[in-house]
Amino acid sequence: MSMQEKVNILMVDDQPAKLLSYEAILDELGENLIKANSGAEALQFLLKTDIAVVLMDVSMPDLDGFELADMIRQHPRFQRTAIIFISGVHLSDLDKLKGYQRGAVDYISVPVVPELLRAKVTVFAELHRKTWQLEMLNAELRNLSTKLIATQDDERRRMARELHDGLGQELAAAKMVLEGIPQNGHAVPPKAEAIAEASMLIDQAIQQVRIMSHLLHPPLLDEVGLQSALQWYLEGFTKRSGIETSIEVQPQEFPRLTPELETAIFRIVQEALTNVFRHSGARRAWVTLSREESQVVSSVRDDGKGISGGIQEFRPGSIGVGISGMRQRAKELGGEVRLRNAEPGTIVEVSIPADSVTDQPQSLQTASR
Ligand SMILES: Nc1ncnc2c1ncn2[C@@H]1O[C@H](COP(=O)(O)OP(=O)(O)OP(=O)(O)O)[C@@H](O)[C@H]1O
Ligand SMILES: [Mg+2]
Repeated sequence: MSMQEKVNILMVDDQPAKLLSYEAILDELGENLIKANSGAEALQFLLKTDIAVVLMDVSMPDLDGFELADMIRQHPRFQRTAIIFISGVHLSDLDKLKGYQRGAVDYISVPVVPELLRAKVTVFAELHRKTWQLEMLNAELRNLSTKLIATQDDERRRMARELHDGLGQELAAAKMVLEGIPQNGHAVPPKAEAIAEASMLIDQAIQQVRIMSHLLHPPLLDEVGLQSALQWYLEGFTKRSGIETSIEVQPQEFPRLTPELETAIFRIVQEALTNVFRHSGARRAWVTLSREESQVVSSVRDDGKGISGGIQEFRPGSIGVGISGMRQRAKELGGEVRLRNAEPGTIVEVSIPADSVTDQPQSLQTASR
């Protein structure tokens, strides 16, 4: 269900003529109207379908409305289903109280005023839609936080392994070599090969540290800015993936932006390209970066298989940490991410409004980091 999707409204009455009149009144709301002639039939619909509002006669021959409300409320799934009672006879406050205690939410008396009935049903239909959306968003959040924790764990495991198997081994080997070299004061001079070997091992350890810090945060981004960092990243990406890439930048001397914005765009492009590699089957990818008057826009297009409507609408369950993370980063800076089919392929576009963008001169930029 989305903001626009129809909800189901169940109308229960033993008199077909009344059902027809409710139908005529509610038709213009554009929701799904379902008719049931008895309490038993109503229960069957309730069990099969997701009902937003039940509209029912208080007095029906086989089962009165209050009894039906009781049965509905007993089922945990229907505890929040809205019920509107329609009553031909004047209901005392006590009768109404009886209804409210069953969780009933509203009453309407005959003759039914069409506008009033429509207004009441609209409120409950909207409430149902909003509740549903909230549940979906909650599910998305839960899903995202579980995935984030798993991703963080993976990252830590990977760094621990790199430290242990890479850096740790290199340093242990260098220590062994150094311990084999006789100390000062001994008669024998240290062997040139041993010194060279220790030096080489330490060089490798330094290299490992560089790679690791690089993976954690691309140093180029801080030093030379977004444009060069993206160019550097694309070269590496093409080498690793075999996917041809190109980048178009406007203006050609691209200004420095705030550190937050440069990082956000870099990470979004990085994730979009990772997705191109993992999911699209593309042979080529094009990246654009432009500083427009009121915003900064960047896009990643590929010539792969494209994406489904559900992903374009960011439907929960169809997107993962990657796209959710891109949206989050853009949103924090007041911007947005759009996904669409490029036929062939996919376009991921991010735009961030200019008010969060302060172009910075190189000197200030370096000083602020
Ligand atoms: N360029 C693309 N071409 C085709 N499908 C894509 C592309 N980008 C994303 N998708 C689809 O969108 C889905 C969601 O992407 P998202 O990055 O959110 O999650 P993921 O890549 O599956 O997992 P992760 O959470 O590790 O990023 C992908 O599973 C894939 O089906
Ligand atoms: Mg991804």
